[in-house]
Formats: sequence, C-alpha cells, structure tokens
Amino acid sequence: MNSNRKGIILAGGLGTRLYPVTIGISKQLLPVYDKPMIYYPLSVLMLSNIREVLIISTPEDIGKYELVFGDGSQFGIKILYKIQPNPGGLAEAFLIGENFIGNDDVTLILGDNIFHGPGFEKYLSKASSRKKGATIFSYYVVDPERFGVVEFDRSGKAISIEEKPKKPKSNFAVTGLYFYDNNVIDIAKSIDRSERGELEISDVNKVYFKNNNLNVESLGRGFAWFDSGTHDSLIEVSQYIQAIEKRQGLKVACLEEIAFNKNWISKNLFLQQIKKFSNTPYGEYLKRIIISSV
Ligand code: DAU
Repeated sequence: MNSNRKGIILAGGLGTRLYPVTIGISKQLLPVYDKPMIYYPLSVLMLSNIREVLIISTPEDIGKYELVFGDGSQFGIKILYKIQPNPGGLAEAFLIGENFIGNDDVTLILGDNIFHGPGFEKYLSKASSRKKGATIFSYYVVDPERFGVVEFDRSGKAISIEEKPKKPKSNFAVTGLYFYDNNVIDIAKSIDRSERGELEISDVNKVYFKNNNLNVESLGRGFAWFDSGTHDSLIEVSQYIQAIEKRQGLKVACLEEIAFNKNWISKNLFLQQIKKFSNTPYGEYLKRIIISSV
C-alpha cells in the first residue's frame, strides 16, 4: 500500500452554471457517456497508485457519493467522506482534509476534470514520486480566460500564474489535478480569501512558485482534458469517451479493471461486481476482462 500519498476528490460546489440540470443532482454524478463523472477523476487517483481517497461534497450530496462508492473495498481502496458546508474555494480541501492527510503528501483532483491520453500513467508516477514541492499540469486551450493560466519563458520554465485573467499571458490552462507535499496544509492556512471569498488554489500554487518548488508539466497535443463545466463540454466529453470506447472496445475509467490489473482485488470480488452489474454493458465488459485474464 502506498501509505505516503493520499488523494482528495473535490465534488462540491453549487453547480449553478448547469441549472436546471443540476437542481436535483450533483454535477459530478451526471453521466459522462456510460458512467458517473466522478469515476474519471477517481480512476486518475487509482492510476497514481493512491489507495486512500477522501471525497468532499456538499451536505445535501455527500450521501449520494457514499451510495455510489461505499467504503471503496470493491476497488481495493479506502474511501472516506467529508462535507464542505459552503463552496469556499478549492484550497479549503486541505483544511477539511487536514486530519485525513496527516503527515502524508496529497493529490487533489476536481470531480469534474477528465483526463485521457497516451503516457498519462508516466506523468502521474513522475509527479507522485516527487518528495518535495508541487506538480501541476498545463494544457493548451482556446479560452484560457476561463481557467488558471500559466505563462512560460522561452526555455519552458513557468514564470507566472494567474487565476482567470481578463488578458491571459498564454493559452496554457492549469488543469484540476494537483500533486503537493505535506506543506500544502500550512500554505492553505496561510493564504487570504480572494475577492470572491474563496481560498484559491492558484494562490497556493503561487506560494510554491515563489519558493521555487512548483513543477509544471505540459500535457501535449495528443492529450484530452475536459472540465465538464458547461452543457456543451458535457456532451463533447461524452462523445469523446463514446468514440474511444466504441473504436477500441476498451473502457476508460473502469475502476474494477484498474483495481484488478493492479492486483488490488481478488477474482472473487471481481465476480461479485459482475453480478452487481449483470445485464448491463458495464457488466458485460467486466465479464470480458475476467475471461481474457485466464
Ligand atoms: O478545471 C480547472 C480549473 O479549476 C483551474 O484552471 C482553475 O485554476 C481553478 O480555480 C478551477 O476553476 P473553476 O472555475 O473550474 O472552479 P470552480 O469554482 O468551478 O470549481 C471547480 C469544481 O470544484 C466545481 O466542479 C465545483 C467544485 N468546487 C468548487 C468550489 C469553489 C467545490 O467542490 N468546492 C468549492 O468550494
């Protein structure tokens, strides 16, 4: 068990940008093609070999996540749950999760961020193995003003970070996946709330940057990153996953498959999951996995 890096999925927020769709359901439980959105970020943590995960959501929604995932043992991991009473910013995750993190390092992923691309596990293991500092991931987009933005000099070194700048200095967005050492708890405690009353993750990253402790990895052109924050991006990411899965016959973010390949769950447990999903395409896929493993 990797005992020195924990994972947090932030799945709260009001989801008002997607109203009326999200009046009755948490955004991160909406379907992205054939599974709930939160499956994708959880798969990223599992691919990073993280086996202790804290899911943070609203008082209204937290119970729904427990219903979906339980204690996580079906994936050979441990999942705990905590409430964020109000959407006070992404960096609040480290205050809410302080006891959970303990003395370990921590990876935060936003519950609405979806990553897919070649060599991703290599990026993850490189970031995971850094014992000091932080690693964030940048991605070239057409609309950088919607995101945290990182600027690079000619040598590829990051030289500034800004949250949703009106005049972005580059097209490189900061994605919602952050690897930190244990200092992040103290750093999150030390920053001030922004004008919109939030503890901003960009302010945490700026502290690491100032201390010369921020690594920025660029996800290249062949990579797909979606933040499913708009109606259009929700459809686009679903169509992307559908196209990949149909073409290859392989699923993206099948959590049982990841756990089985990592030897985190027994064949028996896997068979129980097949039973749970019998008569569904997901269950049929799980059957194929077990047959091809013999
Ligand atoms: O998606 C990447 C972007 O995520 C980064 O480029 C930005 O630097 C970062 O600030 C963030 O920007 P967003 O505009 O996407 O943040 P938003 O407030 O929409 O929150 C992202 C997700 O986190 C959203 O699904 C709701 C959830 N959330 C948000 C807040 C503020 C929480 O669970 N709790 C919160 O307090």
